[in-house]
Amino acid sequence: MMTETYQLNTGGKNVQERQDKYFIITYGCQMNVHDSEKIAGMMEENGYIKSVNLEEADIILLNTCIVRENAELKVLGKIGSLKRLKKKNKNLIIAVGGCMMQSSEAVSIIKEKYPQVDLVFGTHNLHRLPKLIENVKNERMRTIEIWDKDKGLIPELPHLRGDKHKAWISIIQGCNNYCTYCIVPYVRGRERSRHPENIIQEIKNLSKEGVKEITLLGQNVNSYGKDFENEIDFADLLMKINNINLIERIRYMTSHPRDFSDKLIYSIKKGSKICEHFHLPVQAGSTSVLNKMNRGYTKEEYLGLIKKIKDSIPDASITTDIIVGFPGETEEDFQETIEVVRTVRFDMAYTFIYSPRTGTPAADIQEQVSEDVKNNRLQRLMKIQNEISLENNQQMKDKIVEVLVDGESKNNPDMLSGRNRNNKLIIFPAEKDIIGKLVNVKINRISSFTLYGEIY
Ligand code: SAH
Ligand code: SF4
Ligand code: F3S
Repeated sequence: MMTETYQLNTGGKNVQERQDKYFIITYGCQMNVHDSEKIAGMMEENGYIKSVNLEEADIILLNTCIVRENAELKVLGKIGSLKRLKKKNKNLIIAVGGCMMQSSEAVSIIKEKYPQVDLVFGTHNLHRLPKLIENVKNERMRTIEIWDKDKGLIPELPHLRGDKHKAWISIIQGCNNYCTYCIVPYVRGRERSRHPENIIQEIKNLSKEGVKEITLLGQNVNSYGKDFENEIDFADLLMKINNINLIERIRYMTSHPRDFSDKLIYSIKKGSKICEHFHLPVQAGSTSVLNKMNRGYTKEEYLGLIKKIKDSIPDASITTDIIVGFPGETEEDFQETIEVVRTVRFDMAYTFIYSPRTGTPAADIQEQVSEDVKNNRLQRLMKIQNEISLENNQQMKDKIVEVLVDGESKNNPDMLSGRNRNNKLIIFPAEKDIIGKLVNVKINRISSFTLYGEIY
């Protein structure tokens, strides 16, 4: 644990009275999006109100990500740009938290180069945020508090959720997998499962408030319960949640292909509310690269798992994450990734260029792939995947799908958008009073990423 405080330059004004509006900027994955809901919950509980824009905020909170270098650069760029607001409003508090702040190197950069930052906190002391803000306000102190791990208990925090009809539910924190490229285990700590009673109670409460869809969150949800003495695993938890009345859809992310048991496939097939969408990050196609990544499965094992899922649940949608240019990846290795993509025919893939992360084993491998080769592989991969996504979507034409209506479409004014059970984005014209409801939509037009239709 590290706590430091410094005298702040507040221009001698009383900072306390003006600090009532907050604005949160979130980077990174759903875990962070959900943490931001907790930050908002704590802010509201402490009497702050949400600011509609950055300019009017009295406290700006950045919830950061460090998974790839570009994530870090974005954060630093943003903090740099906030300097101008600080010049306009000397009482503005800038607070930076999240995964990037669990890296001592990143904290040093903030300390030395970004004096506009008033508060630094991490992922393990999120619940301390209100206290830390008080400290900054009352003592006019620059405060840096990072814990290297949590104190054993995951605090149950209030949330301010973005949607009324769907909700994220955290079920397990941290990751024990140590994939050799990945920094997440170092910044999020070891796996800690949340108590099933707390999870069930939270979902029951939400169902009574009108929430229809829940997404269970964790870096590796399949490990759920492994740290408990009482026997409960992820499949058991899913079935318990499947029994909660009023909940219509259950999703989860992310699951590791290595721990995807037959029992789990069976539970997903049996649980009528568990959506037929499998996000199974393959990362690479070559077994030799998978070994170097410490993924714990071979290409054949991954393809075997996909076959089992497709045999058992024929209308399953399968999506993935892929990294190109892992150290030592040859053209032949990359061709095996392409082969897996063509064999599985993913509905969608998040594709990434390998980004060396200091402190991870892969960053120390001598044989790094050049930026040109990485970029070229990414382009080739994306082209093939986009063609497959389009072809898969073509199969959806004239089909009638059940859509949970999310709201107005971001890119199509006057249209609404929602997702089917397979998690595909569907856009259609309709009145806004159906937002939050389940409706049937007949698909009449498609693109690689979106399906368009009419209420049926
Ligand atoms: N826990 C999840 C997600 C982890 S981060 C899982 O295991 O699937 C999301 C994705 O970022 C990973 O699946 C991986 O594809 C990518 N990623 C992680 N570290 C990376 C790195 N150093 N460079 C490029 N991509 C990376
Ligand atoms: Fe990172 Fe691997 Fe853990 Fe996912 S499973 S968070 S990729 S270490
Ligand atoms: Fe980024 Fe942290 Fe998520 S590093 S990907 S925000 S767990």
